[in-house]
Amino acid sequence: MYALQTFDLTKRFGDLVAVDHVNLKVQEGELFGFLGPNGAGKTTTISMILGLLYPTAGRVHVLGEEVSPTRTHVLRQVGAMVNTPGFLPYLSGRENLRLLARLYPDVDERRVDEVLELVGLRDAAKRKVKGYSTGMKQRLGLAAALLHRPRLLVLDEPTSGLDPIGMKEMRELLRALADGGTTIFLSSHLLHEVEQICDRVALIHQGRIVAEGEVRALLQQYKSLEEMFTTYVETP
Ligand SMILES: Nc1ncnc2c1ncn2[C@@H]1O[C@H](COP(=O)(O)OP(=O)(O)OP(=O)(O)O)[C@@H](O)[C@H]1O
Ligand SMILES: [Mg+2]
Repeated sequence: MYALQTFDLTKRFGDLVAVDHVNLKVQEGELFGFLGPNGAGKTTTISMILGLLYPTAGRVHVLGEEVSPTRTHVLRQVGAMVNTPGFLPYLSGRENLRLLARLYPDVDERRVDEVLELVGLRDAAKRKVKGYSTGMKQRLGLAAALLHRPRLLVLDEPTSGLDPIGMKEMRELLRALADGGTTIFLSSHLLHEVEQICDRVALIHQGRIVAEGEVRALLQQYKSLEEMFTTYVETP
């Protein structure tokens, strides 16, 4: 069984085919990078994986069960961060997480403090989110995604807006989570980051998967993921 599998997943917006027969297979415990230029179809794919958007055709399986906007049961085992997460600005980071924790019967205050510690926000937990930097909001978003101990994490550009130190910390955190058995599917434009932490990648271009493989194997074929990327995505 795969943690995540898509079967000819397709999304059309009018005449535009944003996602075109995408077949992805992500194994449990894998850290999988989803690469592609602006407008390639990454967020659209992720939205369908999370049941936020209906596929025009094709299917998504998460942990062996089909997902759709009307069949979201299995998504209880999924944590997600898509775009910059919204929080209540006049509440503290901890208060925001405590509110979210109420959605889950088995998430208590100790778990809230545990995830705050995990993402490095323990000291800032009492401060209002209004005063958080982009990086701190991003980390709080990850903390929220982790609250219910998901088996699969789906992250759309988790390092966007982070400074080099924040990026390094995020990288180490994601790697540690994957080493602990959490499957992670993330989209990113930061090829160097992806190269350092991901086990496998897929490259999407104009809605189609044009390259895929183990990072280690791809790096024997290409000097870097950047070289792979530019091989398939012509630069204007
Ligand atoms: N709701 C929508 N209605 C119409 N077109 C859309 C809609 N959402 C996305 N698109 C189009 O679908 C294509 C794929 O968009 P998507 O946001 O999935 O790309 P992306 O790979 O996430 O890009 P980026 O790297 O810029 O985030 C783009 O051409 C986009 O304009
Ligand atoms: Mg996107």
